[in-house]
Amino acid sequence: MRIYILFLTLSGLSSFVFAANELPDKQAEIPAVSKSASADYIKPRSLDAIPNSEFGKKVELGYSLFVNSQQMRGEFVGNELNCVNCHMQAGMKANAAPLWGAFMAYPAYRSKNDKVNSYAERIQGCFTYSMNGKAPQAEDPELVAIAAYSYWLAMGGILDKHGMQDMPVPELSDQEILQGGKIESFKLPADIAHLYPVDQRGNLTGRGYPKLEAPAQEPDLERGALVYQDNCSVCHGDDGLGIKGADKRAYLPPLWGAGSFNWGAGMHRINTAAYFIYENMPLGKSVQLTEQQAWDVAAFVNSHERPQDPRFSGDLEANAKTYHKHQGYYGKSVSGETLGAHSFPTGDEIIK
Ligand code: HEC
Ligand code: HEC
Repeated sequence: MRIYILFLTLSGLSSFVFAANELPDKQAEIPAVSKSASADYIKPRSLDAIPNSEFGKKVELGYSLFVNSQQMRGEFVGNELNCVNCHMQAGMKANAAPLWGAFMAYPAYRSKNDKVNSYAERIQGCFTYSMNGKAPQAEDPELVAIAAYSYWLAMGGILDKHGMQDMPVPELSDQEILQGGKIESFKLPADIAHLYPVDQRGNLTGRGYPKLEAPAQEPDLERGALVYQDNCSVCHGDDGLGIKGADKRAYLPPLWGAGSFNWGAGMHRINTAAYFIYENMPLGKSVQLTEQQAWDVAAFVNSHERPQDPRFSGDLEANAKTYHKHQGYYGKSVSGETLGAHSFPTGDEIIK
């Protein structure tokens, strides 16, 4: 457990090292934007405002794929999750990594794959890791649709915020939509463009999951297990595998095991999970755990086995060394079991 201290120290250093073009940690975290009580979050338009046009059809499809991603099971999705499980309220909720905040933050450099990522590439990342699947290609209608939906949420919300409720969301080409909004060529109405300089677009209030301070005590699995029992198991199951309906689909999502996010997903990091949980769980009663409880339960959840990191090429230790220099249990031993060593079936094998 001493490891945490080391990681917390390292993460403080990483931005410095990063500036020197070193990549000590390939698992890029999105920057957490701090929370403010008076935050004037972007509020997307009602779905009723989606236009009845070819562009509107893409937006509608994007919404549908985002909230019911199991439509793509076996093709692009390899687990039991839906995008909306972590990007809540259909990707509209501030502080739950909303799509409007995300769209305006790309293209952007990501150390995870060491290049500038378009918005489409960032979405592909969540298919590969969070959904344990095989990402659609940029020209696939599914990817265009999710990007179009994100754009529509962002642009409608921005127009409304500045009193332009009557202005329809300008229809863009697929190419423009896949790129994202953090680029000179992405145009905002002339009167408000100065409020959104390109280099600030990645910092919209409410983007990402708000960061917590390092915990007073190191996260502890035993305390975490108790928090889990009292606050989480009723919905996510004593075994963490979620709760399934008669159709074998999870209506309450699994937190670990074969049907959950894999060892490459951002949520497997203890800090990212703590931020998400503190802000969003238990569902319907969020922000009632103490910060310490959020850290403890995040560690507990992430100390369980889940599908392999897709970057794994046979050597657990090597993979841990290359990709897991952060707060997580991949490659570590918990109760005598080495995590990351269990082979669940991957991708579409699970589906059948
Ligand atoms: C298991 C939870 C989970 C699921 C399911 C999930 N994501 Fe994510 N997503 C995350 C996390 C966590 C991050 C932030 C990553 C980080 O900090 O490393 C993220 C980041 C993103 C971002 C970038 C956000 C930003 O502000 O930069 C986009 C876009 C995105 N996800 C889209 C999707 C889509 C589309 C799906 C479904 C195909 C999906 N996600 C499914 C957890 C999830
Ligand atoms: C009242 C039911 C309920 C309770 C209690 C609850 N959750 Fe959730 N949880 C959900 C639902 C539903 C979702 C998916 C949210 C959505 O789709 O809008 C979710 C999503 C999640 C996710 C992201 C998706 C995934 O499967 O990984 C995590 C992590 C999570 N919960 C952790 C917790 C933790 C930890 C606790 C206890 C502190 C907790 N939840 C308590 C219902 C609940």
